[in-house]
Amino acid sequence: MTIKAIAFDAYGTLFDVHTVVDKCEEFFPGQGRQFSEIWRQKQLEYSWLRSLMGRYKDFWEITEDALQFTLKELKLEADEDTRTALLHEYLQLKPYPEVPEALERLKDKNLAILSNGSPQMLHTLVENARLSHVFSNLISVDELKTFKPFMGVYQLSPATLGVPREETLFVSSNSWDAAGAKTFGFQVCWINRFNKQFDELGAEPDRVITQLDELIDQI
Ligand code: LAC
Repeated sequence: MTIKAIAFDAYGTLFDVHTVVDKCEEFFPGQGRQFSEIWRQKQLEYSWLRSLMGRYKDFWEITEDALQFTLKELKLEADEDTRTALLHEYLQLKPYPEVPEALERLKDKNLAILSNGSPQMLHTLVENARLSHVFSNLISVDELKTFKPFMGVYQLSPATLGVPREETLFVSSNSWDAAGAKTFGFQVCWINRFNKQFDELGAEPDRVITQLDELIDQI
């Protein structure tokens, strides 16, 4: 089927959320990886829970709340400067190594990001990674004040890009997000970077790759 646009998830798909491990390790030696894992997991849980409760806070605030929880959970003290330094790492996440070149080579399609990130977070993240020029749009759930996988969020892509869902490839490494996107009716590509299992949500991806550059020869 024709693909006219590609909408990418951001966190964990194009950008490595565990970039923050080094900074965590600097402040809390030996605990960086665990810190980062709990932080990311709580960030996602808070996005789902706040969506269900109808108590939206943007992704930056949720990321801050998740950081606060992680500190408590691991019984770590952090002053305001430390918390700020950790939080700001989320604006400087590194793209996975193959991502910048792969995006360059895919950019004859209409490329966009469709993410939970707040508009400010997404713009700063993409600018810091020097990738602004490859995307036509950075679409944030903030327009709807709820998070993925709410179906209305995926609708922001056809509404913004003017490309129907059937002609849009949605690319995510988060399998629950890929399942949400498939349920919405996108063509879906799951990047399974770490040999994980796909979630049991009754919706399977159309394509599975292990890193983004594999897509170039497929479409
Ligand atoms: C995002 C989260 C799901 O970028 O990673 O939307």
